[in-house]
Amino acid sequence: MRSFTTTTSLPLLASAIWQLALLEGAEATSYDMIKEYAGSTFFDDWDFYGNFDNLTNGDAIFVTADVASSSKLAYVDSSTNRAIIKVDNTTTVPFNEKRNTVRIASKDRFEVGSLWIADMYHVPYGCSVWPAWWSQAPDWPTGGEIDTFEGVNQVTMNQMGLHTTEGCTQVDPFQSSMLINSTDCNYLANDNEGCIVTNPTTKSYGADFASAGGGVFVTEFAEDGISVWFFSRSDVPSSITSNSSSLDTSTLGTPVGNWPNGGCDIDSFFEAQNLIFDITLCGDFAGAASVFAETCSGTCYTDYVMGDGSNYANAYFDVASVRVFSTSGTNTLVDGNAAPAVGISTWAAVGGVLAGIVAWGGL
Ligand SMILES: *[C@@H]1O[C@H](CO)[C@@H](O)[C@H](O)[C@H]1NC(C)=O
Ligand SMILES: *[C@@H]1O[C@H](CO)[C@@H](O)[C@H](O)[C@H]1NC(C)=O
Ligand SMILES: *[C@@H]1O[C@H](CO)[C@@H](O)[C@H](O)[C@H]1NC(C)=O
Ligand SMILES: *[C@@H]1O[C@H](CO)[C@@H](O)[C@H](O)[C@H]1NC(C)=O
Repeated sequence: MRSFTTTTSLPLLASAIWQLALLEGAEATSYDMIKEYAGSTFFDDWDFYGNFDNLTNGDAIFVTADVASSSKLAYVDSSTNRAIIKVDNTTTVPFNEKRNTVRIASKDRFEVGSLWIADMYHVPYGCSVWPAWWSQAPDWPTGGEIDTFEGVNQVTMNQMGLHTTEGCTQVDPFQSSMLINSTDCNYLANDNEGCIVTNPTTKSYGADFASAGGGVFVTEFAEDGISVWFFSRSDVPSSITSNSSSLDTSTLGTPVGNWPNGGCDIDSFFEAQNLIFDITLCGDFAGAASVFAETCSGTCYTDYVMGDGSNYANAYFDVASVRVFSTSGTNTLVDGNAAPAVGISTWAAVGGVLAGIVAWGGL
């Protein structure tokens, strides 16, 4: 979710022949479900930002829960039972004003040793639109950031990445990813581009994502590395479609994004993460003139955000569920407000630890 503005790195081609046995950070691990956001209670355990976008300079107001509900920017569709998170596409925005949209962060924070699965049918896209499904620790850049899904404007492929303090780098050829854009995760390097990889399939973003019936993103936040898998709807493995309360990563195959701990000690650079959905407009990344011009014409704010909302009919997430798993129930922190969907024995013990921490975090 962090942005870069001026540098574009050439992608490095990871070694064409890649063997699981050689890959650090992809050991098979079995996880148990500890939390589910789905159906009519999807929005129960999230904080709505409730302020204009003072994080990435977008031309957007992240509305409160009340406004999101009353103006139907965050709601559960009664016909599909899925959560919709969207940009306001019914209001005419006058010059110099911002457009309403949504940013939600989970009240719970999930520690190293967690894995989360997001099942979506549609992701936001279109000129000026900058959506992300990601996570960060409250004291960012301390504690790190994991971007599972991010795109801007009319790009056609999902980009994934990490952002950290100085010292976390990716050492070729151990990443499984085929399109590696950058390898230094340090937020101070390359204008905070992060260590980015791109999913080579257009089914991972935009119109192609939706027409394929969406898909499932899996994020593994493990001590030996961070990995992202993406499955287009027809490729979702039965270990996920079965909606089982446990998951073994050996059923998932090769991750499309992978940051093993070889050049980046996960325990040192990452802390418990808040999960976040947001959609901003223009701002540091989508609105950067050179980035905007790659896939859109005109001027980001005046030609799209301003005026009627006709540009935003596709600017929404349609989410069937977010399910969070952990190894042996020892690594999930709760801020005290959110109720567990599934009881775990250590819940009460960890539940008080973060009481009082405001979950929406810093930058
Ligand atoms: C953004 O605005 C909120 C609400 O006013 C404030 O608490 C927060 O510190 C601001 N963040 C930044 C980075 O300015
Ligand atoms: C990453 O590399 C891919 C493949 O060359 C390219 O399409 C994409 O625009 C690059 N992304 C960034 C953020 O530079
Ligand atoms: C998945 O299974 C859990 C029980 O393990 C159930 O509570 C939940 O409703 C199911 N979710 C979906 C989206 O089917
Ligand atoms: C707004 O977007 C929704 C989809 O999110 C679409 O069904 C509707 O037609 C759009 N409304 C306008 C006025 O463009």
